[in-house]
Amino acid sequence: MPAAEYMRDMVARSSFIRKMFEEGIKLKAQFGPENVFDFSLGNPDLPPPPQFKTTLRDLVEEMDGHGYMPNPGWPQVRTAVAEYLTREQGVELKMEHVVMTPGAAGGLHVALKSIFNPGEELITPAPYFVEYGTYAQISGGKLVTVPTGPGFGLDPAAVEAALTERTRAVLINSPNNPTGAVYTQEQLEGLARVLEGAKSRWNRRIYLISDEPYRKIVYDGLKVPSIFRVYPHTFLVTSYSKELSLAGERIGFVAVHPQAEDVGELCQVMVIANRIFYVNAPSMMQLAVGRLQGVCVDVSVYQRRRDIFYEGLIRAGYQVEKPGGAFYLFPKSPLPDDVAFTGLLKEERILVVPGSGFGGPGYFRISYAVPDRTISASLEGFRRALEKA
Ligand SMILES: Cc1ncc(COP(=O)(O)O)c(C=O)c1O
Repeated sequence: MPAAEYMRDMVARSSFIRKMFEEGIKLKAQFGPENVFDFSLGNPDLPPPPQFKTTLRDLVEEMDGHGYMPNPGWPQVRTAVAEYLTREQGVELKMEHVVMTPGAAGGLHVALKSIFNPGEELITPAPYFVEYGTYAQISGGKLVTVPTGPGFGLDPAAVEAALTERTRAVLINSPNNPTGAVYTQEQLEGLARVLEGAKSRWNRRIYLISDEPYRKIVYDGLKVPSIFRVYPHTFLVTSYSKELSLAGERIGFVAVHPQAEDVGELCQVMVIANRIFYVNAPSMMQLAVGRLQGVCVDVSVYQRRRDIFYEGLIRAGYQVEKPGGAFYLFPKSPLPDDVAFTGLLKEERILVVPGSGFGGPGYFRISYAVPDRTISASLEGFRRALEKA
């Protein structure tokens, strides 16, 4: 067998999602794309804010080279990000704390590669973003999942129970994919106490990685608490994939807290990790987002869709938490076998992802990054599938 064993395992694990994707294509060919209700992909469908195009036009005129640059990114962009984060997080950052990466995925790889030794453990609350297991593995780590509390909230006691002398980091994601949950200040402070407690117990620093690509996509005036003010030994990872609808352009960053333990060394290894994985993040996109700090898509559109979908599902008889952010709903499957229930939805030409794929069996994930009319037109199918179940 020419392929590496762990890569072959990854192919096997991804075949389920690929199968769904292929079935979606088949259904669309058979019934016409407008008659298939595809809620399977978390691909932002809103256009980027208008400033994005004008910024790109300016850059086409202004850029006088497209060569290599320092591995962590353009200094003026890292400075702009550091200044923005200083205001957002209430903690003063400098350019050296920021590494520009190809999306949040790139930032996660850089953070994990920077701190993991072979066999060390990464704790994450389930349900979780499906790629975390793979990302941990690539850096030599092992993913350990812990349950969430009511409303899929963060449960610090569950994290505490899973800590061992091999724990290297805890990875959280709020607003969450797939549940839409937004962790509270109190939950985050509880987690920080647990991680400080582990330091006294094992004399070992456990880092926190906060994956926040949906930070700006929150509803009803909710605010995502500043993670840097809660726990200093933190990597903040994010991207412009969702807030500027630039998922295909691959741009984001990882920032380390200026008071993190061994911060000087961490800044050095982050640069090396970025270099070995990517050399540097896409040049023109760095320059564009550097000029668009704080700009965001129209979140009210996602909120309106959440409301239409949530209310429609409740009326149809589903059990579902009202999400505070991101663009996902995570309803309870009316059948204990969530894969079987997504099969019933498929008979109604509705495509969703079984919760089992996110470490959340007994649920299914809906992505509402789709036009309002797709949501409204699907609700009758959701009602019929529930009736069949
Ligand atoms: C929770 C979470 N983290 C990371 C990513 C990767 O984001 P990016 O496309 O910016 O790499 C995603 C993408 O959907 C996500 O949902």
